Amino acid sequence: MLREWFTHRSTPASEEARRLGYLKECVAIQARHRRCALAWRDHLERSRRFVLWAAANTPGQDKVTVLGSGGLLDVPLDDLADDFAEVVLVDIVQPPAVKKWAGQYENVRLVEADVTEMAEDLLSGELPERPPTPSLPDGDADLVVSLNLLGQLPLIPAKHLPKGWSRDRRATYCAEIQRQHLRALQAAPGRICLITETKREWLEDETVNETEPALADIKLPEPDETWIWELAPAPEIEKHQDLRLQIAAYAGLFGR
Ligand SMILES: C[S@@+](CC[C@H](N)C(=O)[O-])C[C@H]1O[C@@H](n2cnc3c(N)ncnc32)[C@H](O)[C@@H]1O
Repeated sequence: MLREWFTHRSTPASEEARRLGYLKECVAIQARHRRCALAWRDHLERSRRFVLWAAANTPGQDKVTVLGSGGLLDVPLDDLADDFAEVVLVDIVQPPAVKKWAGQYENVRLVEADVTEMAEDLLSGELPERPPTPSLPDGDADLVVSLNLLGQLPLIPAKHLPKGWSRDRRATYCAEIQRQHLRALQAAPGRICLITETKREWLEDETVNETEPALADIKLPEPDETWIWELAPAPEIEKHQDLRLQIAAYAGLFGR
């Protein structure tokens, strides 16, 4: 707890990231990874391997952009920096350890950006009627990777939507944030690799008690690969329940 508090205090972040809770979430993810490293290992390895497979099938090797790079747990940075002339890592928070790691490569660049373009509006409380279609930072890459991000995108905005909104209106707005991310990916000219949670499952004694969709009613095509992320084995969040995520991975979404 003390370590998390100190990290939170000492990590530079934009006012939006700090006040909306993105920084807190980033510190919490790193802490959860330390506690659940063994349970996360398979998911992180599979994510890194899948990104490399997508990279190997990308015709151009000038630039790769990774959206949701975070703590680089699921990013095969060494290989990407070897394979591509330029690697761009995009996240709303860029932790100091990532800055240090990225600083070792001449061809790796960090971009601190909100890929939904909603942070300022959420902070001011003046929301547009519908979430904007964002222009992806460095979206002009040969390969754009949306990395374990899509399912997470509405979670923090959902906490800042007007209190008076009905449950349905909130759910519709959150789903539209995800749709807009997919539209932004579709508008990018290069190859698109998407790795995303599709469902959250709560289990007790290996029996699924409850399933929550992570992508509302968004229909994606058949994935190239699927696996499970053992996100929070008991008692990490619930004393007697495990939380796991169903993951779907696409090497060339939109048929590119
Ligand atoms: C589940 S984590 C992905 C794991 C991450 N690649 C890692 O290795 O730590 C989701 C990442 O998405 C980032 N993120 C969430 N919402 C974002 C937004 N609106 N813009 C940019 N990044 C965002 C978070 O900061 C976090 O690093």
